Amino acid sequence: MFLLNLYKSSLLALLLSSTDGSPVTRDVTKDNVEAAYDTLQQWYNTSIGIWYPSTNWWNSANCLTVISNLASVDTSVKSEITGVIANTYTQAQEWNSQTVKIIGVENDPYLMQTYYVNRWPQLPSSFIQPKMQANSGFLNDYYDDEGWWALAWIAAYDLTHISTYLTQAQTIFADMNAVFGKTNCSTNSGGTGGIWWDKPHTYVNAIPNELFLAVAASLANRVSSSDNPYLSIAKQQWSWFQGSGMIGSGYTINDGLNQQTCENNGGTVWTYNQGVILGALVELSKASGDTSLVDTAHKIAEAAISALAPGGILTEPCELNAGSCGADGGQFKGVFTRNLWILHKASPRDAYKTFLKNNADSIWKNDRNEKKELSLKWAGPFVTPANASTQSSALDTLVAAVAL
Ligand SMILES: *[C@@H]1O[C@H](CO)[C@@H](O)[C@H](O)[C@H]1NC(C)=O
Ligand SMILES: *[C@@H]1O[C@H](CO)[C@@H](O)[C@H](O)[C@H]1NC(C)=O
Ligand SMILES: *[C@@H]1O[C@H](CO)[C@@H](O)[C@H](O)[C@H]1NC(C)=O
Repeated sequence: MFLLNLYKSSLLALLLSSTDGSPVTRDVTKDNVEAAYDTLQQWYNTSIGIWYPSTNWWNSANCLTVISNLASVDTSVKSEITGVIANTYTQAQEWNSQTVKIIGVENDPYLMQTYYVNRWPQLPSSFIQPKMQANSGFLNDYYDDEGWWALAWIAAYDLTHISTYLTQAQTIFADMNAVFGKTNCSTNSGGTGGIWWDKPHTYVNAIPNELFLAVAASLANRVSSSDNPYLSIAKQQWSWFQGSGMIGSGYTINDGLNQQTCENNGGTVWTYNQGVILGALVELSKASGDTSLVDTAHKIAEAAISALAPGGILTEPCELNAGSCGADGGQFKGVFTRNLWILHKASPRDAYKTFLKNNADSIWKNDRNEKKELSLKWAGPFVTPANASTQSSALDTLVAAVAL
């Protein structure tokens, strides 16, 4: 009995000790999360409704999503956040500017960086490609950006039940859907589906396709109409995505497809490409009643945690490069943890709960400065600068950890 107790207590001590032997404190509290939210809002540009110039257009859609999620679990900030959402709705579409993305920055051939044409005088006009269009509303030349905003308005709708936000998501989706099935990459069995990354049709990659699936499945669960087209689109998109070759044999998802051969291009396994798909499959499972989709989501989540979290802390491949993650890559990890939380809510696993809490604790302990800014490396050390992108990404994890 004594030995057994001794064994138990040393096991307990082991479980509750960090590597330096100090006890693990679950110190990410509601107050900490609210403090991190206040820091994020210091970068909110009220006059244009986005977190600019601290971060960019698509990142701001992610900022809006995480604060909507925060408000859904913390009523004390709800009225302030619904005001921010309303302001973003009116102001951001006025500001929206023609966008150009350049792929292959910071030593990673698949990392992109975003530029705004009429706000970036140095950008040579040669970057403007044929078939680029003027921006309008929440639309621009990149279908992934459109998908982020559609999901942001769905999160805002879930929080507020304001139908304008859901209608906006439908409007954005309609623009993405206009190219559905028009890529020249079909599945091995000839199935069509999929969307391009961009309006000039230069690339078919994972992120816009996962977002398209997530938006279609989310709309299928929210739009009540007898001729709701979203479920059948979502099912076709998932069959195409599954057969497209983007999911590797070990259930990790690469950046995209080779445009000549339509085969998996072996591009970087980004955390966000392992994330959006989890929420998308949960929504599709709910809409279709097919529970095997959740099993597939678990396989992808487990593969991602084992591939992308050395020591249990989520790490973006670009953090290990000589370069940095640029202005866009710092956003990605929060997309994974936000969606892991969605999967956990639908089909709980202790391992996910522990993972989210450990990551939140590490962010708070190792990746924070005295101004409660949260930066790129969740395992630490703090990297200067932090900004609305790194802050909102970390906040995704803190919100999930506290909600659990
Ligand atoms: C808000 O954005 C506008 C337009 O880009 C810019 O002129 C202004 O300086 C920004 N405000 C702050 C506080 O950064
Ligand atoms: C797809 O179309 C692009 C041009 O848009 C072309 O360069 C490429 O070879 C085509 N790929 C396949 C597999 O047909
Ligand atoms: C935001 O911070 C990251 C990490 O320090 C940095 O790499 C990135 O360039 C910053 N973004 C902007 C728009 O300055």
